[in-house]
Amino acid sequence: MRRKLAAGNWKMNGLGDALAELRALAATPAPQNTDILVCPPATLLSRASDIVKGTGVAIGGQDCHARACGAHTGDISADMLADAGARAVIIGHSERRDEHHEHDEHVRAKARAAWSSGLTAVICMGESLAEREADNTLDIIGGQLAGSIPDNATGENLVVAYEPIWAIGTGRVPTIAQIGEVHDFIRARLERRFGPGVGLSTRILYGGSVKPDNATEIFSVPNVDGALVGGASLTARDFRAIIDALSAA
Ligand code: PGA
Repeated sequence: MRRKLAAGNWKMNGLGDALAELRALAATPAPQNTDILVCPPATLLSRASDIVKGTGVAIGGQDCHARACGAHTGDISADMLADAGARAVIIGHSERRDEHHEHDEHVRAKARAAWSSGLTAVICMGESLAEREADNTLDIIGGQLAGSIPDNATGENLVVAYEPIWAIGTGRVPTIAQIGEVHDFIRARLERRFGPGVGLSTRILYGGSVKPDNATEIFSVPNVDGALVGGASLTARDFRAIIDALSAA
């Protein structure tokens, strides 16, 4: 009942010439069972939206402000993202939580702003290495889930991304059992809080060092509905290989 989702997060990477990768990605038809989302830096959003028009690729932002407009120098509102052609926005990425001191209440307010603008919120959560080693992973995820997701979630407006901080950009990947445990836990918490309709229809992505050579194994885990991919989403070839692994899983 859940469509698969491959989401690429370019982070602070990509000048105009990087759009050639997006063009290459969009030139191959998307698999029937898989949605594709690419989140380029804000400077490329409207050009990227033009490129993917009429293809199976959607464009998203990497963050938004909680307010619709106002005196917030350097920030971008969810309305602005939507106006530039975005369909979704990543919220609460660990790099935002860390570098911009975003806490669960900020993430929740941003998710509400995203929903007011008609965007899907890809809400990220994950434990640090110290938290994992102290056996606190599920407590941390439970707290982030309760604090970061607003009440009126639906299977369409919400995607949850589980991204262990220690796996992001490091080449270190949790075991299949570790990924499965957290995804099952998130699913159960979503069902408990929002009911089975929303709980079972919300997509849960894994993120952190997903590459073409580990994608098939990761996508074999129950309750992994796709991936949020950083480094490997920067080239059409690698991202396409991950998309193909997902659609075949
Ligand atoms: P990575 O990043 O794939 O480069 O580890 C994932 C992410 O931060 O979303």
